[in-house]
Amino acid sequence: MSAAIPVIAIDGPSASGKGTVAALVARALGFAYLDSGALYRVTAYAAGQRAVPLDDETALARMAQGLNLRFEGGEVFLDDAPVGDAIRTEDAGRTASKIAALPALRAALLDLQRGFRKAPGLVTDGRDMGSVVFPDATVKVFLTATAEERAQRRYKQLIEKGFDANLAALVQDLKERDARDAGRQAAPLKQGADAHLLDTTGVTIQEAVDRVLNWYRQS
Ligand code: DC
Repeated sequence: MSAAIPVIAIDGPSASGKGTVAALVARALGFAYLDSGALYRVTAYAAGQRAVPLDDETALARMAQGLNLRFEGGEVFLDDAPVGDAIRTEDAGRTASKIAALPALRAALLDLQRGFRKAPGLVTDGRDMGSVVFPDATVKVFLTATAEERAQRRYKQLIEKGFDANLAALVQDLKERDARDAGRQAAPLKQGADAHLLDTTGVTIQEAVDRVLNWYRQS
């Protein structure tokens, strides 16, 4: 049954703008939106709160499977409490990227992610949405931009949220995160042969959204 429910899978590197584009595409189509990176981020956050060692793959996977998570209005709730921007810092992203390399943890989050596929459809973003989680997605997009442009965008986002930010450190951090996310054994970040390439360097958000909507309409 669920295979008939459309999925638009948008994968790409950190700060490529895939979350913004995915949320707007979801809104345009009246589909649900799943930010899969938030699952890795909140798992890392919960591990910190519960003192689960970040290198204990079995304990992390067990914890992830039992997490009481809810997404509502762009906010993530853990045990009914909003986690807010605590999972949006660079540090939280780095820790999420480290635990995301653990195959047992990725496996533990699979069913949870697939459970978001509900009528009338789902738009989701991450690193392996088209390759592993929803291999039969209706439209697959690999959304990227140069590291410099992505760092600029992340810089703006962090400043707007009231966090400290340093552009040179952000470029360095993004390059390290790209290397770790693309170089790992389990579900590495890469453009699949069946994914449309969307390079958003110098492209407006609306243009990027329209391109994805067009691919969906033509599918
Ligand atoms: O998209 P993001 O920056 O919020 O993701 C945070 C980290 O989580 C990212 O560096 C790698 C990991 N991640 C992943 O491995 N697979 C996904 N589908 C989504 C995120």
